[in-house]
Amino acid sequence: MKLWGGRFAKNNDELMEDFHSSITFDKRLYREDIAGSLAHSAMLAKQGIISEEEGNAIRAGLQSILKDIDEGHVEFDIKAEDIHMNVETMLIERIGDVGKKLHTGRSRNDQVALDIRLYMKRETDEVIALLADLNETLITMAEQHRETVMPGYTHLQKAQPITFAHHLMAYFEMFLRDMGRLQDSKKRLDSMVLGSGALAGTVFPLDRNFVAEQLGFGEISHNSLDGVSDRDFALEFLAAASTIMMHLSRFSEEIIFWSSGEFGFITLDDGYSTGSSIMPQKKNPDAAELVRGKTGRVYGDLMALLTVMKGIPLAYNKDMQEDKEALFDAVDTVKKCLMIFKPMVATLTIHEERMRNDAEGGFINATDAADYLAERGVPFREAHAVVGSLILHCEKEGKALKDLTIEEWKAFSPVFSEDIYDFVTIEKSVQRRQVPGGPAPQRVQEAIAAAKQRLEAMK
Ligand code: ARG
Repeated sequence: MKLWGGRFAKNNDELMEDFHSSITFDKRLYREDIAGSLAHSAMLAKQGIISEEEGNAIRAGLQSILKDIDEGHVEFDIKAEDIHMNVETMLIERIGDVGKKLHTGRSRNDQVALDIRLYMKRETDEVIALLADLNETLITMAEQHRETVMPGYTHLQKAQPITFAHHLMAYFEMFLRDMGRLQDSKKRLDSMVLGSGALAGTVFPLDRNFVAEQLGFGEISHNSLDGVSDRDFALEFLAAASTIMMHLSRFSEEIIFWSSGEFGFITLDDGYSTGSSIMPQKKNPDAAELVRGKTGRVYGDLMALLTVMKGIPLAYNKDMQEDKEALFDAVDTVKKCLMIFKPMVATLTIHEERMRNDAEGGFINATDAADYLAERGVPFREAHAVVGSLILHCEKEGKALKDLTIEEWKAFSPVFSEDIYDFVTIEKSVQRRQVPGGPAPQRVQEAIAAAKQRLEAMK
């Protein structure tokens, strides 16, 4: 008979068993489930709700179950529905009737909410550690490329020169914010919900603070209805994971086109690219493409849970069982993507010459020519117009700014003199961008030094 079978006259239909059971995926929570039961039963004994001996028997039973699952000796039973009832059924099989006392003052509703919180605490820390790892790689690479000039883009049109270090450190900032979001979400994970019961608490004199302490929670939840109805913490993780994926996806997109023949800025290591079954010359950036593609899954996971939660009344509804597959998929996906990303980036070959030469084209120093005039008293808007006509002239003549004769410069503005040639070199252009947060090598050096400390503080 089912643990809840008392009021039922016949069994579930087999299709129904399969449809509503969650053990195939929530078995992943067995450690958390058993940890919660150990803390709960220790508290029941401490409070005299069950006897000391009963508490000891339950503890020994739970520990033996944990060991057997760890060692792969346990076959879960779909008829026992979920991880909570699988463990409880096994406990009763192993220690007899005393096992039936474990569920005193508890419901699966607060049990599942507790288990997911415990699981998310661990996984959130793992994702933070992976982000920290990736950021360390970015810092190391940036240190080697402070002087590596490359074109910066807006609208994917050449805009102004920057350095490769500066570009890498932009991603560092994104991933550091991602770490911050996860650190922040941990505050709301840190609430112990056992004692909420099914929705209306319990009549038993539970010591909730004792359970919180046993399980390493900072506080206990304040409202039993909210305790079992809340999945904000899962949504916060999914939103943070979606943002991480968005960042990884933008980075992937750049890696994909930087590695194309047209750009030729980087070459991917053979270990992280694949070939074509028909075109012998191909070397494809599959890892980056997959990360870009998997971003959609994680957004889907977020949308799925937001949609599950939007229409359900308080408190627990079985709809909420759908939280887990979305969450597990997002956890697995974001971890795998971060794991592959770090070595993929660390093993890139950077073609510095090509980046630098590419920065020469496309009138990338046009702003510098305008800045030159503005520094010498010409109002910037006017300077912009002068250089605009110069560019038009260059395009007609098929010249770059640096190829203009001094007479040509002067024909557009008498303020130009010989030093304009040095002023519009790509290197000088980058070096002059000394504003805090700018790409001048000195500023990037300072940003890297600060980044190391900011990363440590965020771990
Ligand atoms: N398997 C369920 C879930 O994952 C556990 C809670 C079930 N509670 C209930 N009253 N049916 O959400």
